[in-house]
This record gives sequence, structure tokens and C-alpha cells, in this order.
Amino acid sequence: MTLTRAQAHCHEAAMELIDADRPLTHEEKEYVLDHYQPAANTRQALDGAYFTPRGLARTLATYDIGCDRPGERIIDLCAGIGRLAYETVHAPDRKYNRLNMPLGEIVCVEKNPEYVRVGQRVLPEARWVCADVLDVPDLDLGLFDSAISNPPFGPLPRSRDAATYRPRQFEYHVIATAARIANRGVFIVPRASVHEERTPANDSESSQRFSAETGIQLDRWWGDTRAWAGQWGSVKPNVTVTTSQFPRALRAAVAPAHSPRFCA
Ligand SMILES: C[S@@+](CC[C@H](N)C(=O)[O-])C[C@H]1O[C@@H](n2cnc3c(N)ncnc32)[C@H](O)[C@@H]1O
Repeated sequence: MTLTRAQAHCHEAAMELIDADRPLTHEEKEYVLDHYQPAANTRQALDGAYFTPRGLARTLATYDIGCDRPGERIIDLCAGIGRLAYETVHAPDRKYNRLNMPLGEIVCVEKNPEYVRVGQRVLPEARWVCADVLDVPDLDLGLFDSAISNPPFGPLPRSRDAATYRPRQFEYHVIATAARIANRGVFIVPRASVHEERTPANDSESSQRFSAETGIQLDRWWGDTRAWAGQWGSVKPNVTVTTSQFPRALRAAVAPAHSPRFCA
């Protein structure tokens, strides 16, 4: 995608903040999150790097993500520059039974080192790990209370399989990875991947097969994310949100949590 002059100008201003030799203010962090352009990086299309619109991330963090008790650990898989994790830490107004309690730790995993560098500037409270998401169960990061993710969608190349029957969709491999290291998960995924909608772009394995083969049930209650449809940059994904309470048996091999570090 070609950036407009205004987008390119704002992206450069965001890069100056990222390179500044001082901590960023809250407003500056928000500026970077809003104006850093993944389209300026040639890996965008190859890695499915379409960052979550601010409103969707904030709504998700407000209603679906959070701590039931102080000191919980959250991992953001395929974290990009940290939009979902940032809203999770800073969500001003949590609803329902997700209480606004201090996290024990938030860990962000992202394979693109530039996004990690940006993320470390906007969310320095997080522990950033530059790695392939499919290697996470081998990284000795411990057990997490929640995994959150807006992963790349669809049949992207992958380094290994997380689900043994090898579904084509990358998002299923991220969910299966999460189930090995976390108690529950919250994922932004294509609607077709949980609602059994067959489209030319999604004619492969169904969520029913995924659940049958892995034992992971994908809850679906989110309907409409169209309010944010025009805010994904050059793509207009038809997404929904799915949550899952993972079967304990899937994480049997994972060590218990490391000692928590922070989070205000
Ligand atoms: C759809 S974007 C979402 C980013 C972020 N979670 C958000 O909500 O804005 C997916 C991210 O996954 C990263 N990614 C792609 N393949 C990956 C892999 N194998 N391991 C780790 N991260 C990966 C991309 O670089 C990109 O930042």
C-alpha cells in the first residue's frame, strides 16, 4: 500500500519519537500506536501485519481481557507493536467481572525485530520476546492465566505445526500454541474460522474439526466488528472475537509461572 503524504509525515514523526533518547509520555506512546505504519515495512503482507484498530482493541480490553485476581500473567502472541497489550494494561474502564486489578506480568511475543523495538518504547512495562510464536512452548516462559492475540490469518507459511492435524489457517496454530501455555485465551480471528462460513479465501478446515482434533472449544458470542472495518489500513478483514477456556491436559508439560515482575 502506498502511504499518503499525511500518513508518511506522521509515520516519520512516530519514528522520531521511537528514536528519541528519553522515555515517552503517555500521549507520545498513543501517537506512535496511532501513526506508526506497518505498510512502511515490506514484511506487512508476508507476515499478515495488520494492527488492531484502537477502538476494537480498547473494547476487547474493556470487556474481555483482564484479571480475575491480582498478579495474573498475560501473554500477547504475535503482538505487533503492542496495541492489544497496551490497551490491556491501560484499559481505563473494565466492565463485567473482569476487574481492573494489577497484572503480575505481561509478555509480548513478536517475530519482527522492528516491531519489538517500537513495542518496547510504547509498552516498556512488558517483557518483549522476539521469537516465532510457534516456538513459544519451548521458550520456558512459564504458565499464563490468559493468552491474547490478533494473529496473522489464513494459510501463511509456518515453521512448524502446533495442531497435530495441520490445519492450513495460521490462526488455528496460534490458538493451539496458546492452549499449551495458558489457562484461557481471547483471539481476534476471521469470522469464517469460528462461524463455519465458507468463502473462497477460507475453504479449508472448519472450527468443528479444529475442536474435534484438539479438544479446544472456541466460544463465539461477538457479533459485529463492522464499526472498525475501515480502520485496518489496506485490508478489510471480516473478524470476530473468540474466547476459550483451554483443557488442562493440553498444558501438562508446561512449568508453573515464573515470579511476577510488575504491572501498574
Ligand atoms: C495481525 S498483526 C497483529 C499485531 C498486534 N497483535 C495487534 O493487534 O495490533 C500480526 C502480527 O504477527 C506477527 N507475526 C507473523 N508471523 C509471526 C510468527 N510466526 N511469530 C510471531 N509473530 C508473527 C506479525 O509481524 C504481526 O506483527
